[in-house]
Amino acid sequence: KPAPPCTLVIFGAHGDLTKRLLTPALYNLLGGGLLDKQFKVIGVDRVDGSDESWRDELGKTMQEFTKDPNAEFYTPQIDQGWWDDLSGRMSYYKADFTDVSQLEGLKAKISGNAIFYLAVAARFFATVVENLGKAGLTQQSDDAFRRIVVEKPFGSDLESARELNARLLKVVDESQIYRIDHFLGKETVQNILAMRFGNGIMEPLWRRQFIDYVEITAAETVGVEGRGAFYEPTGALRDMVPNHLFQLLAMVAMEPPNSFSAETVRTAKEQLFEAVQPIKPENAIRGQYTAGTVQGRDVKAYRDSPGVDPHSNTETYVALKLEIENWRWSGVPFYMRTGKSMTGRRTEVVVHFKPAPYAMFADTPVDKLAPNIVTLNIQPTQGLTLGLNAKIPGPKMDLAGVQVKFRYEDAFKMTPNVGYETLLYDCLTGDATLFQRADNIESAWKVVDPALKSWEADQNGPELYAAGSAGPQGAEALLSKSGHSWRPLDHG
Ligand code: BG6
Repeated sequence: KPAPPCTLVIFGAHGDLTKRLLTPALYNLLGGGLLDKQFKVIGVDRVDGSDESWRDELGKTMQEFTKDPNAEFYTPQIDQGWWDDLSGRMSYYKADFTDVSQLEGLKAKISGNAIFYLAVAARFFATVVENLGKAGLTQQSDDAFRRIVVEKPFGSDLESARELNARLLKVVDESQIYRIDHFLGKETVQNILAMRFGNGIMEPLWRRQFIDYVEITAAETVGVEGRGAFYEPTGALRDMVPNHLFQLLAMVAMEPPNSFSAETVRTAKEQLFEAVQPIKPENAIRGQYTAGTVQGRDVKAYRDSPGVDPHSNTETYVALKLEIENWRWSGVPFYMRTGKSMTGRRTEVVVHFKPAPYAMFADTPVDKLAPNIVTLNIQPTQGLTLGLNAKIPGPKMDLAGVQVKFRYEDAFKMTPNVGYETLLYDCLTGDATLFQRADNIESAWKVVDPALKSWEADQNGPELYAAGSAGPQGAEALLSKSGHSWRPLDHG
């Protein structure tokens, strides 16, 4: 069903996000018949430009996606009819968005519903929203909504996140703010809820009585590449943990909400985040990559990357042990790790179940049984894998570990999807379920803040690991203390 008519105003019209993700997502929504005939897009940026030049620029990037199978949005060919329709709705508006007087002209161009999408550097978020308020653009009425979409990073620690929330909430109501976390646009992330709450067999086992420990991994083979200037003051923890990895944590560990409505789901997340204990500094391991080889490619050390301090202490890897104090999870460690320039690319949640209490098979005693593991495969593998024990054919009662696999590509015909389609559509239709509420953001920062503070005060810096390895030794030690181990990054 097409979303209501709306004007989407993108701040940062020439930015990377607009090219790589927003435009392809809009193209898919239009092709899927999900945009109203009155839907239009206004691109705002500081540099000179015309409607024509902006459309051409985006048309070229769309064409590039037809040649690059590794692009986030790969499609063998662009449907010209769809593109002409979409680009015909796009216009360009030159403005310095830090100057209110330059935004006032937008008023004449917008009537009715509008979404202001902040695809700009985080330091401008509050200023742009304040200026939109001053220009009278955020005022809603019964028949016209006004919404703001904010990208990450939302703050750089607890204090700055609180301050940013406070500044935005002076201008608009919480219900008008859509804080995006692109991980929630991934089918496989949304599927965690489908697996847990759309099946009767999961939930009874999904608790401390049956689960030993949980790993949440987002390992990347890419390094910081050209993003040194952004990454250097950010680091792996801020870049990935209180946002993306906490979303995975929420999906896996929150209590079943009574309904799928935005407030119910976000309240369930909040209750979980409040139960996650502020991290103990000894449970936070940081690493930084040195030169090495990643899948046959030579990679320079992080410190030798453009935009990076040659003596940098910024972490490119982080591993955490989180403790959740609630009835369901007390005593079950949740380990998280994420890193750049690692040996394999793999985002997954691995749930380790407790073993069978006793096994009557002489040749396969209980300690030789393969572990029962449920892996929620987020990417690049998409699906779910269940590790069980089965009898090896033959006269003896020997057992071996086997895997039961569900794969998206086998079960469903997948269409190219950049992950922003659902999020944009939800914002157009006013469904905030997959967006962060102010309290969710602050509670996540509250958990990781002690690690950030202790690192600031620690002169030793991160432990080094070679590019192309599985990360620093300290991350292995963090788990082995409790008799646990990380799933190898190259497992099947
Ligand atoms: C971004 C981070 O938010 O997420 C990047 O800034 C990271 O550093 C990316 O590479 C990971 O997203 P995805 O969808 O590629 O797993």
